[in-house]
Formats: sequence, structure tokens, C-alpha cells
Amino acid sequence: MHLKLLVTPGDGIGPEVTSEAVAVLQDVMQLGGHTLSIDQRDIGGVAIVRHKTPLPQDTLDAALSADGVLLGAVGGNEFNSLPPDQRPEAGLLKIRAALGGFANLRPAFAFKELAVNSPLRPEIVEGADILFVRELLGGLYFGAPREWNRATGESWNTMRYTRDEVARVARIAFQLAQKRRKKLTSVDKANVLEVSQLWRATVNEIAAEFPDVTVEHQYVDAMAMHLMNQPRNYDVVLTENLFGDILSDESAVITGSLGMLPSATIGGKVNLYEPVHGSAPDIAGKGLANPLGAILTGALILRHSAGLEAEAHAIETAVRKVLEAGFRTPDLARSNPQGYSVLSTTAMGSQVRETLHHILAVHS
Ligand code: NAD
Ligand code: IPM
Ligand code: MN
Repeated sequence: MHLKLLVTPGDGIGPEVTSEAVAVLQDVMQLGGHTLSIDQRDIGGVAIVRHKTPLPQDTLDAALSADGVLLGAVGGNEFNSLPPDQRPEAGLLKIRAALGGFANLRPAFAFKELAVNSPLRPEIVEGADILFVRELLGGLYFGAPREWNRATGESWNTMRYTRDEVARVARIAFQLAQKRRKKLTSVDKANVLEVSQLWRATVNEIAAEFPDVTVEHQYVDAMAMHLMNQPRNYDVVLTENLFGDILSDESAVITGSLGMLPSATIGGKVNLYEPVHGSAPDIAGKGLANPLGAILTGALILRHSAGLEAEAHAIETAVRKVLEAGFRTPDLARSNPQGYSVLSTTAMGSQVRETLHHILAVHS
């Protein structure tokens, strides 16, 4: 098969981690007898500097004609004083809206080899395997009106959802739960917010179409605690946009590092793939970034945009074997650096590729 991928590396560690993910994808496609074409464009801060806009038209055009888009990360401290609609992050929100994917899948899988690297006790995190389904095109991020009125000293954003926006993402979450452990936890703040009452009523309505899936509702504040206390309790976790942003970063603690988390956004014209982490200005340019979240995002590209399940699985297996062999980036080795072979971003990428070659050689 032929896959046409657009890569938008973006800012900070974005280029560092996406180049490792792309190298892995190139190898896996070639070894499997497939072809991969890569186009690369600017987005975010780098696009503001080069083209005076965080989402140039040519980037958007290339995205819309690709089979999938892999985005690194956007944002940088030098842009922090800009208003939201001119910042690097605006480019990301704009490309998300244009591609139309509304269901952002954020798996938080606790590799057993990393249980001792989590700040939580190993017996709490071992076996945790959560799939967050974060609604990505609604809520506070896109609701109008929004304003900071400097004259009156007031500002507001609007958390808005329609029934149909909730129903379509809920349906995807239920379908995914059917293929997993058949449990769905919907997160809201229905004790306070009307928009959450609509959310909960709609989830209950869609639940009737999926009688084999057990549904529970949790308030977001309690959920933030339950996730840390008993992460193994959760299978699919369905949330609105902002709650999902927060809870998915929190779940990084279960996996050992924010650098481990991949994501895929589906349901629109073209799927968008991004590691969950940001541009990490504090470690950018130093070879310290963990590329595994981006590499695992590559596995999601093969699964959701190329139908290459075996190849996707091979990438995930290679990551597990590399961890099993004691290789770590610094974010995963804080507690016991002497116990591991601590690698740079590029060395970790090479290690995954080498392992992948062994796996695919055995299978061919
Ligand atoms: P961040 O995710 O960039 O970093 C949070 C912490 O996690 C930092 O200490 C960082 O060093 C660490 N970290 C993140 N990814 C890592 C990796 N792969 N390996 C090792 N350590 C890693 O969040 P932040 O610092 O709050 O935000 C920085 C910028 O990134 C902001 O401009 C923000 O808006 C942007 N951001 C962009 C995206 C995206 O483009 N998808 C996502 C989140 C944040
Ligand atoms: C993420 C990021 C983005 C979000 C920002 C950078 C717009 O935090 O992908 O998690 O809030 O969706
Ligand atoms: Mn986030």
C-alpha cells in the first residue's frame, strides 16, 4: 500500500520527536513492501516567523490532500504575550477544525516495564490501559462569544455543545469500548453546568444503542482523583474538550512520562496524529526529549490511516522490547539513572528501529 503523509514538525521538541517517528515509519513501510511519501510544512511558531501566520495556506492545502497528518508540537515562550488568535496554538486549533476530526483518541497504556518509573506505586499502575476519547472541536476552545474586554476588565469564553456534537463522539467511544473491555466512563460536571447535563443526557441516550457496554458517569473533580487511585478501573473514558486535555496529561503519570503518550484524531476528512505533549521549551534542542510518544503515534497512523495493524503492532512491540532491555530517555530514568542505559532522543529512535528490524526479519 502507499501512504501519503504530511509532517508538520512545529516548534521546540516537535522536530526532534517527529524525525524519529518518521524514520521508524520509513523503515516499517519499506520492510513491509509498502511505500511512504512524506511532505513537510510549517505550522505554529516557526510558521509565524517564516510566513507571519501560524497556519499557512500551503500547509492547510497539503494537509487536506494527504492520507494523514503527523504534527509535532507548537508553541514557544517568545509568543506568550500574543492574543490567543495569533499564537502558535491558534494554528493547531485551525488545522484541527479544518481537518474535521472530532474524536481525539489518547491511549494511556502503562507498559509493565515502566511501572517502576511512575511516581505512583507499581502495583497501582501495572496493567492500566485507558483509552481517553476527548471531544476535540467543541466546548470552551471553540464556543462563542469569547473576549477579553480590556475597557471593562471583563473576559469570557463559552462552553457550548450541541446534542449532535456529543452524540457523534459518544458513538465512537461506545464503538471503541465494544472492541475493548466494554466499559465506558463519561466525565462531566453535571452537578453545576447545563452543558454537562446535556452531555450526560446525550451519552445515556446513545448508550441505549450499545447494551453490551457498561456506562458510568463521573464528575471531573472526582475523576482526577480516581485516575490516580485506581487507574486499572478504567477502560474507555469519554470527555469534553478541556476536561480531556487536563485528564490526559494527568494520565501521563500512570504511564511514566508525558513523552509516552500518542494520539489520533478521527472522524473528519483527514486524520490528525500528534503526541499528547507540547513543545517542551525547557528541554528543546538538547536531545533530551522522549520520542516514544511520537513513535507510538506513528503506530496509530498505520492502524487508523493505512489499515496496517500488524505493522502498527510491530512498532508497539519494538517499543516494549526497548524498554524491557533497560533503555530509557532521561524523563523515564529520574529515579534510578544508574539502573538504565540512558539515551538521547536520536539514540532512542535508533534503538527502536534496530529492534523493529529484528522483529520484522523474524516474521518475514
Ligand atoms: P509540555 O507538554 O510542552 O511540557 C510539560 C513538561 O513535560 C515539561 O517539563 C517538558 O519538558 C516535559 N515533556 C513534554 N514532552 C516531553 C517529552 N517528549 N520527553 C520528555 N519530557 C517531555 O507543556 P507546557 O510546558 O505546558 O507547554 C509548552 C508549550 O507547548 C506551550 O506553548 C503549549 O501551548 C504547547 N503545547 C502544544 C501542544 C501541541 O502542539 N500538541 C500540546 C501541549 C502544549
Ligand atoms: C493538546 C494541547 C492543545 C490543546 C493546545 C496546545 C491547543 O494542550 O493537544 O493537548 O489544548 O488541545
Ligand atoms: Mn494538552
